[in-house]
Amino acid sequence: MKDKRFLVVYYSYTGSTELIASEIADALGADLLKLQLAKPMPQGGRAFAIGGLTAALGIKARLQAWDKDPSQYDAVIVGTPVWAWHTAPAFNRFWAEAKLQQPYALFSCSGDTPPAKLFDKAIQRVGTSPVCAPLGLVKVEGTRDKSIADARAWAASIVTALDKS
Ligand SMILES: Cc1cc2nc3c(=O)[nH]c(=O)nc-3n(C[C@H](O)[C@H](O)[C@H](O)COP(=O)(O)O)c2cc1C
Repeated sequence: MKDKRFLVVYYSYTGSTELIASEIADALGADLLKLQLAKPMPQGGRAFAIGGLTAALGIKARLQAWDKDPSQYDAVIVGTPVWAWHTAPAFNRFWAEAKLQQPYALFSCSGDTPPAKLFDKAIQRVGTSPVCAPLGLVKVEGTRDKSIADARAWAASIVTALDKS
């Protein structure tokens, strides 16, 4: 693991995915790339309407320029909040543009929806399977310590899977 370079990429609106991304990055000694919308999300109820609709439609949000190049890393871990049972539009843009060639893993944070098929389309699009089953954390705000422990254990499973491959 020591000689592998990891990048953890994430979008977060209210901080849960950011918390988990930071824990995973810390566990792996990874760099972090925070995806930032070119046009900030509105606050309050409009965020749910606009965010939910654009996510459900599979829209790819415009992003600010990335300050890390995913192609320079041995493995890339990507996280998204669940919006209207879909990946967030920022994730959609990153996924479409990054065209990852290296091993990858995926995680999500949600309020109460277990993300059963959340990443199916994304996985189909690259045509290769993630190095381990996606991590889907539910109610991160209410289960902070457990979510962090689960995320760190999952990060360790990425290393194990890569060592075996
Ligand atoms: C626009 C929008 C839509 C959401 N849709 C869902 C949903 O379908 N299912 C769910 O469990 N949580 C939903 N949530 C809650 C978020 O998935 C949850 O709070 C997540 O932890 C937020 O991650 P973040 O803090 O990194 O933004 C939604 C939140 C927003 C803002």
